[in-house]
Amino acid sequence: MMLLKNCNVATMVGGYGLIKNAAIVIDHGQIQWVGQESEAPSGPAIDAQGSLVTPGLIDCHTHLVYGGNRANEFEQRLNGADYAAIAKAGGGIMSTVRATRAASEADLFKSATKRLETLLAEGVTTVEIKSGYGLDIQTEAKMLRVARKLGARHNATIKTTFLGAHTFPAEFKENHAEYVDLVCNQALPLAHAQGLLDAVDAFCEGIAFSVEETEQVFKAAKALGLPVKLHAEQLSNLGGAKLAAQYAALSVDHIEYLDAAGVEAIHSAGTVAVLLPGAFYYLREKQAPPVAALRSCGVPIAIATDLNPGSSPVHSLLSTMNMACVLFGLTPEEALLGVTTNAAKALGLKDRGQVKVGMRADLAFWAIERPGDLAYPLGFNPIAAIMQNGQFSKAFA
Ligand code: NIG
Ligand code: FE
Repeated sequence: MMLLKNCNVATMVGGYGLIKNAAIVIDHGQIQWVGQESEAPSGPAIDAQGSLVTPGLIDCHTHLVYGGNRANEFEQRLNGADYAAIAKAGGGIMSTVRATRAASEADLFKSATKRLETLLAEGVTTVEIKSGYGLDIQTEAKMLRVARKLGARHNATIKTTFLGAHTFPAEFKENHAEYVDLVCNQALPLAHAQGLLDAVDAFCEGIAFSVEETEQVFKAAKALGLPVKLHAEQLSNLGGAKLAAQYAALSVDHIEYLDAAGVEAIHSAGTVAVLLPGAFYYLREKQAPPVAALRSCGVPIAIATDLNPGSSPVHSLLSTMNMACVLFGLTPEEALLGVTTNAAKALGLKDRGQVKVGMRADLAFWAIERPGDLAYPLGFNPIAAIMQNGQFSKAFA
């Protein structure tokens, strides 16, 4: 049993749920008690140095396993090329697919480890990682094995998502139906049979998969009992979110172009809206997601880095909180909910995202006073200690 004293706890229960002058009891990797320090059980305690304690942060949308990089495309875009045009010309996602196919599993593991460790240093304790830069049976599985291995080697929970329907690989450019068939009937079931999958995603967009093609992927996922998520309405409004709602998706992600009917559909389905301000920022998008409508409807809003080599080479969830506030108008409390409670929901995780009895003891201790101290600076990390499953992965100095 471990007793922590001298902290303020952002429980995230019923909103921000602050308990001042708090103590926390942890046993067997779980929170056993949380409340006023004056009412805490007696015994030897660890001094939490007056820190603000939040749930360990959750990055619920990343593509952090990949080969190569796309700094060249960053330059091309600065010179006027647009994201969709680069993709149509065989760059974009396909450029990373070529590099990822060519990379060894060991090299992918090495480069992904650096990215993951950068995220974890900011109090992140759970990370979702997607495949989708393989687009063939072997390379999709290779990426997912790397993701699983990252989870086994780090003090973090890694959740994996199959994204074989990310774009059409060059060899199927003229035969989309055959590729969708390969995804649904071979790549996906094989990866699942190897225990590599927690969820299934697709990129529903004019430059990627149509609503009908996406539905085939969702049907295949459901047949295997896997939950679905969707990259939807990022660059245009195809109605992907409505389809995702019909399949009780955990989340719809990006959603800059989501309309009122789409908001209503995901609200009824209990689907989380995952905002990715990093991609909005890098692609210099003009249309922000419908935050006011999501709020007034009561749709849970999560935010994530979308860490990927093309649209969002963002390796910081704290910076993402800042961007969600500055670019999308979230409050710092909403941003914090977006990387804790609502991010857990977006991954279907019921054992984390709040500091309350029975939850997993994943905690971040910050040398700060309020959520604004996380969301307001850029490039400043006020972490004091990190606990993962009841053990300190970073101890107090
Ligand atoms: O979430 N939108 C599609 N997929 C990624 C981008 C992938 C890439 O450009 O490599 C995203 O933004
Ligand atoms: Fe993404």
